[in-house]
Amino acid sequence: MNAPTPIAVLISGRGSNLQCLIDACASDNYPARIAAVISNRPDAYGLKRAKEAGIPAIAIDHKAYETREDFEDALDSALREAGAEFVCLAGFMRILTAGFVNRWDGRMINIHPSLLPKFKGVDTHARAIAAGESEHGCTVHWVTPGMDEGPVIAQARVPVLEGDTPETLAARVLVEEHRLYPEALKMALNDTASVLR
Ligand code: GAR
Repeated sequence: MNAPTPIAVLISGRGSNLQCLIDACASDNYPARIAAVISNRPDAYGLKRAKEAGIPAIAIDHKAYETREDFEDALDSALREAGAEFVCLAGFMRILTAGFVNRWDGRMINIHPSLLPKFKGVDTHARAIAAGESEHGCTVHWVTPGMDEGPVIAQARVPVLEGDTPETLAARVLVEEHRLYPEALKMALNDTASVLR
């Protein structure tokens, strides 16, 4: 088997999707290893998860930078210093400029809590309920300059149930996110390998 691809996981908070990637990478024959976890919020709980797993945990506080581009230059340098060849956004809540996205073209994926192209952006669970959807879910997609617009790699569906609140629906979707992300990352890495071959 080829050596696992060094990836970086970018987070902003709780890091439960990060945890499922940490667990997947610990299993035999998984095609990735996490070279660094980077958060734009120094207090993100996900940084603790990374440290506990012995993974370099880096905080790059976006508030310390005057412009989005300055922040992204720091992010890009940290990714390269860590030796990351692929990036997973996992609850990373900063919009990335086209300049940054293009630097990682074909090597960056995101998990989003809706069945894209439905419900791009935030508050997806509340919006799915308000729209009377009978089905909701999550999507892993390639990151392109348009927000939540890149090609879909994989999706998972859940029913919207009578009496659901945004919280109960989010919890049902999150179970699927944790199942989907490691599988979709594997698929994405296979795609990348076939492009490079
Ligand atoms: C997840 O539900 C993820 O899909 C969502 O943030 C949550 C992060 O949870 N991402 C977005 O909304 C991106 N637009 P986690 O920190 O526990 O993984």
